Amino acid sequence: MQRAPAPDQDQRDQMHGRQVAAMFGRIAGWYDFLNHTLSLGLDIYWRWRLARAARPEPGSTVLDLAAGTLDVSVALTRQYPDVRVAAVDFALPMLERGQRKLADGLFERIMPVQGDGRKLPLPDESVSAATIAFGIRNIRPRLSAHREVLRVLKPGGRFCILEFGTGRRKVWGGLYNFYLDKVLPGLGKLISGDPAAYRYLAETIREFPDERQLARELMDAGYARVFHVAMLSGIVYLHVAEKADGVEAQTPFEPSAPQEPEAVQG
Ligand SMILES: C[S@@+](CC[C@H](N)C(=O)[O-])C[C@H]1O[C@@H](n2cnc3c(N)ncnc32)[C@H](O)[C@@H]1O
Repeated sequence: MQRAPAPDQDQRDQMHGRQVAAMFGRIAGWYDFLNHTLSLGLDIYWRWRLARAARPEPGSTVLDLAAGTLDVSVALTRQYPDVRVAAVDFALPMLERGQRKLADGLFERIMPVQGDGRKLPLPDESVSAATIAFGIRNIRPRLSAHREVLRVLKPGGRFCILEFGTGRRKVWGGLYNFYLDKVLPGLGKLISGDPAAYRYLAETIREFPDERQLARELMDAGYARVFHVAMLSGIVYLHVAEKADGVEAQTPFEPSAPQEPEAVQG
């Protein structure tokens, strides 16, 4: 009997995507409660900072990628009363859960769309800003999401990324690292009954590039300027990548402008 050929990278990425979508589908019911509990409510402030950094044009559309249960989408509509949000996520149960938050006219302003960040269901230059909170870590390959967001952004638009610090450096004398390795998977297992999901969370946080590597990656994808803000001693980072204004963005993989990523105080 002939063995099936080993899956290539593209097939492994597709498989990974299906597993991630299924995993978030399983924990959708617990997601918000766990988020607020495990972060002691700080996640609300972090998402508010993310929305504030987006600075969309008045009356325009913002992309909230990996929108999950729509907390960032709602934060965007609160801060910018005249924008619409395209809330894209490939896990339908997460979006469905989030729709409970769409009271008071938000139905008309937030459009949940099931879609993949590696192939966005949006036309070129159709959004004036894009956000992603705790989602970029899950997308493989990241570069396809960086490029897709760049494609749909209008010139001068911002791609704002909220993500945990890698935990590879000691934060608070190792307390954050202990939390990542022991507390998070333990509590996640206890509450959601899905230990794999919260082990996966800690693993992907550790594997994620640090702020300088991510900035380099974004510049290589074609963004014109990248900077970051470290929050809570580097437990969470806000990364901002800007598309070139007016002129054509650089083609991915062309040598990027010799510009150093900046750090801004949080
Ligand atoms: C940790 S949750 C974050 C949800 C939300 N942004 C928040 O702040 O709570 C990550 C989300 O990313 C979504 N996701 C992961 N990979 C994706 C992809 N390739 N395309 C679209 N959504 C994706 C998952 O389905 C999940 O809802």
